[in-house]
Amino acid sequence: MGKVAQILVAAGKGSRFEGDIPKQYASLGGKTILRQSLDHLKLAYPETALFVIVHAENDSRLSSSLEGFPGKTITTPGGATRSLSVKAGMRILADDPPDFVFIHDAARPYVSQRVMQDMLRSLETHQATAPVLPIVDAVKTIDGGKLGEDVPRSQIRRIQTPQGFRYKDIWPAYKEMSGTENHSDDIAVARTAGLSIGTVYGDEKAFKITYPEDLEKARNMLTSKTYMATGSGYDVHRIEKGNTLWLCGIEIEAGFSLKGHSDADVGLHALTDAIFGALAEGDIGDHFPPDDPQWKGAQSHVFLSHAKDRVKHRNGQIMHVDLTLICEKPKIKPHREQMRNRIADLLEIPIGKVSVKATTTEQLGFTGRGEGIAAQASASVRLPEYDG
Ligand code: CTP
Ligand code: MG
Repeated sequence: MGKVAQILVAAGKGSRFEGDIPKQYASLGGKTILRQSLDHLKLAYPETALFVIVHAENDSRLSSSLEGFPGKTITTPGGATRSLSVKAGMRILADDPPDFVFIHDAARPYVSQRVMQDMLRSLETHQATAPVLPIVDAVKTIDGGKLGEDVPRSQIRRIQTPQGFRYKDIWPAYKEMSGTENHSDDIAVARTAGLSIGTVYGDEKAFKITYPEDLEKARNMLTSKTYMATGSGYDVHRIEKGNTLWLCGIEIEAGFSLKGHSDADVGLHALTDAIFGALAEGDIGDHFPPDDPQWKGAQSHVFLSHAKDRVKHRNGQIMHVDLTLICEKPKIKPHREQMRNRIADLLEIPIGKVSVKATTTEQLGFTGRGEGIAAQASASVRLPEYDG
């Protein structure tokens, strides 16, 4: 697969939305619509090399929408029409052109991973591609408020974004665009330029927020249909000489330590992995590479907090976590309530949703011999069904 860039156009006024602020900054699941769109674009193609965000004003609404986004972004001011905003985004890419560019409306918060995969395949044989959907209602012309002729439904389609292009083919068409042009979408530009155009089947969840009631629909989608994802995590750290060790975010005077690149908190590591497991987002090593010096000696609560933030960014909710520590020493019971409290604080959930247990292995195996401590965890995370 070649290099992929994505342009998010967010420079519109949202006049039909009639809000106090431009619709891309309206709140949806604790984030701006712009950020929801950006997060879902990343989820739909995590390997994206660069996200270009085309904005109207460069103010705090933009910067706070991008805060903590785990991808490379560039921002640039847009133009008077959507096409000119896309042109501004395309220009940014000209110096180091990607193989493929996807253009997406910031007003479409939900992006389908399946559609993205289908478009990438479609671009192997076409210069441009777009998600299309059929029309189910009857369609008629209207003239002076009076209904007219039937329009044959089979001859029309609805077109969504993201739309995908081979960059070297689409950029010349935008480069030559005059200062006033506006096209209904980017496929229209590709068509005028004579590019070959493929189609893939769209996804209803990628609807555009245009009118106030669309935001209501988008909000309902976050809560109306959810599923419970369960993740599991496991970790082991070797026991070494020392006085104290970190376990579940607290420091315990055990007369020995645990060896590790970070603070070696085996409990928090297993728990962090359980949450990543529920999100199907790889493991702790993907998020915090052990060969990256910035994590050397890092406190493990940073890892767990990051996992919690990822749940939030996926519009999810941690419902319950359960952790088992496997060791002969230290005795866990005297510390258990403090551990549960600490974990509940870090995950911002009630203590009743945090379970910490311990077991020995009857002096068998490496834990039994006191060579190491093991931990295993599970996490239950509620996620929106539309996810993906
Ligand atoms: N857009 C843009 N630059 C423009 C016009 C639109 O970047 N000059 C973006 C919008 O921010 C939106 C997407 O293009 O994400 C689709 O446009 P639309 O839904 O029409 O949004 P608005 O133009 O903001 O809304 P309206 O037409 O109701 O004013
Ligand atoms: Mg518009």
